[in-house]
Amino acid sequence: MLQTIAIQNYRSLRELRLDLGRLTVVTGANGTGKSSLYRGLRLLADSARGNVVSSLAREGGLQSTLWAGPAVVGKAVRRGEHEVQGTVRKAPVSLQMGFASDDFSYLIDLGIPPRDERSAFNADPEIKRELVWSGEVMRPSSLLVRRVRQSVLLRDDSRRSTEWVEATSSMRSYDSVLTELVDPVRAPELLAVREQVRSWRFYDHFRTDPAAPARQPQIGTRTPVLDSDGRHLAAALQTIVEVGDVSALQTTITDAFGRSTFAVTESNGRFDLSFSQHGLLRPLNGAELSDGTLRYLLLVAALLSPRPPGLMVLNEPETSLHPDLLAPLARLIVAASEHTQIVVVSHATGLVHELQREPEARVVELVKDFGETRVSGLGPLESPPWNWGHR
Ligand SMILES: Nc1ncnc2c1ncn2[C@@H]1O[C@H](COP(=O)(O)OP(=O)(O)OP(=O)(O)O)[C@@H](O)[C@H]1O
Ligand SMILES: [Mg+2]
Repeated sequence: MLQTIAIQNYRSLRELRLDLGRLTVVTGANGTGKSSLYRGLRLLADSARGNVVSSLAREGGLQSTLWAGPAVVGKAVRRGEHEVQGTVRKAPVSLQMGFASDDFSYLIDLGIPPRDERSAFNADPEIKRELVWSGEVMRPSSLLVRRVRQSVLLRDDSRRSTEWVEATSSMRSYDSVLTELVDPVRAPELLAVREQVRSWRFYDHFRTDPAAPARQPQIGTRTPVLDSDGRHLAAALQTIVEVGDVSALQTTITDAFGRSTFAVTESNGRFDLSFSQHGLLRPLNGAELSDGTLRYLLLVAALLSPRPPGLMVLNEPETSLHPDLLAPLARLIVAASEHTQIVVVSHATGLVHELQREPEARVVELVKDFGETRVSGLGPLESPPWNWGHR
C-alpha cells in the first residue's frame, strides 16, 4: 500500500506531501490544486511507462508546469506589508515527484539539461536523479538504487561491507531506470517498483457524447481492465459477469437503478449494452443510454475490475451524475477500496459527504495559501516525513 505521495514545484504544488489511506478523498474549492495533484500523480506514473519527458512536453514543457511563485514566501509578504517580488532563482530548476510505500519507494527529479549547441532539444527536460529505497523515509542506509544523470548505481550487499556497483554510465537523459534497467537478479526492486507503478490506473471525465467510444458496439474480447477512454465497456462488464464479482455488480446496479437490469448482447462478435428500464417496452442500447447512466456503468466497470490495480485515481467521478446516484457511487467506491487503494478527487459536496461517513475514508481538503496548494489544517511541521535528498 502507498503511504505517502510527495510533489514539489509542479504547478501550484510548491511542496505537497499527502498521507494516503486505503481510500483518500481529495477535495477543495475551485483553483486549489485538485486537478494539479491528479495530473502530478499521472506524470509520476508516466515514468514507469517510459514517457515522463514526453508527457511533460505535452503539458507545455517543464518551464510552464514549474511552480511560478517564489521559493519561499517571506514573513513580510504574509503580513501583507510587501508584494511577492520577482527574484533571481538561486536554486536549480527542479520538479520532483515520489511515493513511499510499505516495501519500495521512489522519487524522480527533473531539471534543465546543460546547453548543448549541437542539439535542437535544449528545452527538453532531463532526468537528473532517480532514487529507489526500501521503507518509507529515504535515508542513505535505505537507498537501493541511485541514478545521477547518466550513471546508475546499485547497492550490493553481497560482500561484508555494502558497495555500490555501477550498472550503467550511459543512461539517456529522457529514459527512466524503471524502463531501461530490467535486471531481475541485480535490481529486483526496480522491477517491483515498475510493476507497481504500471498497474496504477487513472480515470478522468469519460466521454459520453454520441461519438464516445463507450457507446459504440465493439469486437468483444475479455477485458479485465477498462481503458481510460471507456472503450470496450460492454466487454469489460461481461468480463466481470464471467470472472469477476458478479454479485457486487448486481448490487450496485440495483442500488443505483432500482428495478432496471442490464445485459451484454453479442452480434457478429460485436458487444453492445442492453439496459432494460422499468416502464419501457424494449431495452436501450449503448447509443441510447443517458449520459449519467452510461457514466455510472463506466465507473462500475472501472471499479469492479477483476484485475484490481495497486492504485486507482478517479478525477471528479461525479460529473453529470444525478445527485441520487452519488450515494450508490460512494458505496461502490468503498466496496472497491477493499481490493485496491483509491484516491478520489472531487468537489461534489454530495459525494464527499457520502464518502466521509465511511470510517475508512481519509478526507483531505486542499486550500490555496499565497498561490500555493496546502492541506487544510496541516502546518508545515505536521506534513508526513519526506526527504528529497540532494542532486
Ligand atoms: N505553474 C504554476 N505555478 C503556480 N500556480 C499555478 C501554475 N499553473 C497553474 N497554477 C494555478 O494552480 C491552481 C490550481 O489549479 P487546478 O486546476 O489544479 O485547480 P482545481 O482545484 O482542480 O480547480 P477546479 O475545482 O476549478 O477544477 C490554479 O489556480 C492555477 O492558477
Ligand atoms: Mg480541477
